[in-house]
Amino acid sequence: MKILNFGSCNIDFVYSIDHIVNPGETERTSTLNIFPGGKGLNQSIAVARAGAKVYHAGCIGTDGEMLKQLLEDNGVDVTYLKSVDAKNGHAIIQVSSEGENSIFLYPGSNEMITTEYIDTVLEGFEAGDIIILQNEISNVKYIIERAYEKNMCIIFNPSPMNERISEIDFNMISYVLVNTGEAKEISSCETAEESIAFFRERFPELKVVITLGKKGCMYIDKDNELYQSSFNVKVVDTTGAGDTFTGYFVAELAAGNSYAEILKLASAASSIAVSRNGAAPSIPDMAEVKSTLKYIKANKDNGKNEILLERIDTYVQQNIKDANLADLASILGYSSVYTGNLVKNVTGLTFSKLLQCKRCEIAADKLLTTDMSVEEIIESIGYENESFFRKIFKERYGANPLEYRKRK
Ligand code: RIB
Repeated sequence: MKILNFGSCNIDFVYSIDHIVNPGETERTSTLNIFPGGKGLNQSIAVARAGAKVYHAGCIGTDGEMLKQLLEDNGVDVTYLKSVDAKNGHAIIQVSSEGENSIFLYPGSNEMITTEYIDTVLEGFEAGDIIILQNEISNVKYIIERAYEKNMCIIFNPSPMNERISEIDFNMISYVLVNTGEAKEISSCETAEESIAFFRERFPELKVVITLGKKGCMYIDKDNELYQSSFNVKVVDTTGAGDTFTGYFVAELAAGNSYAEILKLASAASSIAVSRNGAAPSIPDMAEVKSTLKYIKANKDNGKNEILLERIDTYVQQNIKDANLADLASILGYSSVYTGNLVKNVTGLTFSKLLQCKRCEIAADKLLTTDMSVEEIIESIGYENESFFRKIFKERYGANPLEYRKRK
């Protein structure tokens, strides 16, 4: 199975400023860095640095030779890369002191991808091969249609969003990788949760990956929903973080890893990328990602999780009779789907299983420390179905409640 990335190559002019310039405002900066970039190029480099072989197709302009060199230096196969007589695409990027960015794009050579060139490139690939696409070159719709005819696995990152996206038939896509804003825009929904429901209903075969910024990411298909929290890092520059994620996702998918493992590696890689400047230059290699993960595990930087664990635990204890996920979600300030995944991630249990365990624990405690009858205890912890409670209690403590009390 081969991996082809048909995508943009840009020269990024990155200006560091205190805050992103508002309309009508003039800001001064003395910090200009010129970096290789473009969503396509960044993603190819990420795939290569993650350890997979990738072919990059796209057009570079007369001033874009250094981009070709960079791809080659990173082990990306440039057989299909085309040089055109035009100015290379470039991006004017403002990076604020908070690490946020704002991008202005001049497409240049990236808009010179013709249908003839696409046909020639696709001749080199066959059914089952992976094709990665973003929305930064001309004729994306045409590439999708041809790749679909060939039965290739199409992985689509519809960034940057524009009117062309409405022409895309998502039934042809195998995997779509979006951030929350893109998910909402495509689905015309107001929340990530509603967008997920939209994708599931409208495109049941589509596999969706949603990156949630600092909140982590999710993988969703018709049967599964997985959540991965983000890694806590100091944000320097978010440019290219999504591309790093996509590249790692594809490389690990091609390697046949589980979705849980893929999300973990892709999240770790993009967290490293946001902790330093530039797009392509900030992408880590697999050795760095793995050693960072080892370090995190060794240091069990779990301060954040412990706080969350305590909040979940307190909520359940205080509301043992009628605790529910929607209520917890509104207290934590997240959606129910997100909270459900968070609970699973932090406690290792689904919300209903967690509640069940807590109720058993409280009942066991009351059996040993009070004179309440079993019926009163069951009523106090909120079980309507007594026999079900007795069953799970026995499963957990190896005795029915009365026998357990005798252990006093
Ligand atoms: O995703 C980041 C990239 O978007 C930058 O490298 C810039 O070139 C724009 O295409």
